Amino acid sequence: MSFSMPQRELGIALIGTGFMGKCHAMAWRNVSAVFGGAHPRLEILSDVTEESAAQFARQFGFARATARWEEAVSDPNVDIVSITAPNGMHRPMAEAALTAGKHVWLEKPMALTLSDAEAMAKIAAAHPGQVTMLGYNYLRNPAFRAASGMVRDGTIGTPLAFRGVYDEDYSADPLLPWSWRMTHEGGGLGALGDLGCHLVSHMTALMGPVAEIVAQTQIAIPTRPSPDGPKRVENEDSALALLRFTSGAQGSFATSRVARGRKCRLQWEVHGSDGTIVFDQENMNELWVHRTGEDGFVRHLTGPGQPDFSAFCPAPGHNFGFNEQKVIEARDLLAAIAGEPNVGPDFEAGLEIEKIIHAMAVSNGTTIRIER
Ligand SMILES: NC(=O)c1ccc[n+]([C@@H]2O[C@H](COP(=O)([O-])OP(=O)(O)OC[C@H]3O[C@@H](n4cnc5c(N)ncnc54)[C@H](O)[C@@H]3O)[C@@H](O)[C@H]2O)c1
Repeated sequence: MSFSMPQRELGIALIGTGFMGKCHAMAWRNVSAVFGGAHPRLEILSDVTEESAAQFARQFGFARATARWEEAVSDPNVDIVSITAPNGMHRPMAEAALTAGKHVWLEKPMALTLSDAEAMAKIAAAHPGQVTMLGYNYLRNPAFRAASGMVRDGTIGTPLAFRGVYDEDYSADPLLPWSWRMTHEGGGLGALGDLGCHLVSHMTALMGPVAEIVAQTQIAIPTRPSPDGPKRVENEDSALALLRFTSGAQGSFATSRVARGRKCRLQWEVHGSDGTIVFDQENMNELWVHRTGEDGFVRHLTGPGQPDFSAFCPAPGHNFGFNEQKVIEARDLLAAIAGEPNVGPDFEAGLEIEKIIHAMAVSNGTTIRIER
């Protein structure tokens, strides 16, 4: 596959140094080694304190550090801002970066509320020369891209139904302390914003747009311990939905952050008129494909035949990893800056994902049509 990459060094600001901050830092450090083009310049890193910013700037290889994110997004040597701070900061940080003329790589979910996401998409549309990209890394898995290619080229016939779940158990322990993730103000949605949006990104890439949804949510553990005593959990631990796609196909959807034993079970199957494809991110280097006439499922192991795999490794079965998805995401962002079509999801496409998860959050058993 050939694509253009920037030939000029672009300056990077990184905000946040946690799970995703490190993941973005690794992507920025590796993207040109894997895909070519000028190496990004790791210009400035921001974290909550001067000490941690300086420490992580040293660790990740950034030239400068600041505890004031406003400084990082408006820095004249910065071209791209990576935002990996908690959800409640996404809108102010992304808007400030766009207004300062920067390209923006923002972690999902886009925002706390649907109206925030709408406002962000509007600002991005008002800055058409600047690229926006959301952190839907699971779309970059070569196995996923091979599967979506099979759905598109008719390998399993006409898609009739989607069955998807995204379950984890990071909140299953009732003694897990209360945190910003469990509030409307800090986290926005619960399992839907954290996990469900990733499943929506896969689902819509495979099945096309959603026409209507009926859903239910549940708060399984209503209070959590805190130093000030038990505090109320405000957003959903799990959600279930039935869907109709504009194609007429049907779907079922489930997500939970309290599913004991599940670690990254982003699992789905597409039933087509001539076959079925099955995927599970916990076994992210495998696809299982059944076609009419076969007696069961055939295992397709990840390898150079799948998109982008060979840029990392020439040998099949040697496995692709979580963090490598982010390297491809960085490549897609850089290629869009170099003039290639933005494969996204950009803020406009991200808003469509937000419409679906927010519809699920408020449905409460009532059918909601997705307007576009
Ligand atoms: N794409 C994925 O697969 C994926 C996985 C996990 C998390 N996420 C998303 O990434 C974001 C961050 O999640 P995380 O798990 O990395 O959280 P985290 O708590 O591990 O990291 C958050 C970071 O933001 C920093 N931060 C907080 N306020 C700040 C401020 N005012 N200025 C500068 N830095 C600040 C914190 O110090 C910390 O380093 C969330 O939006 C989450 O939904 C995405």
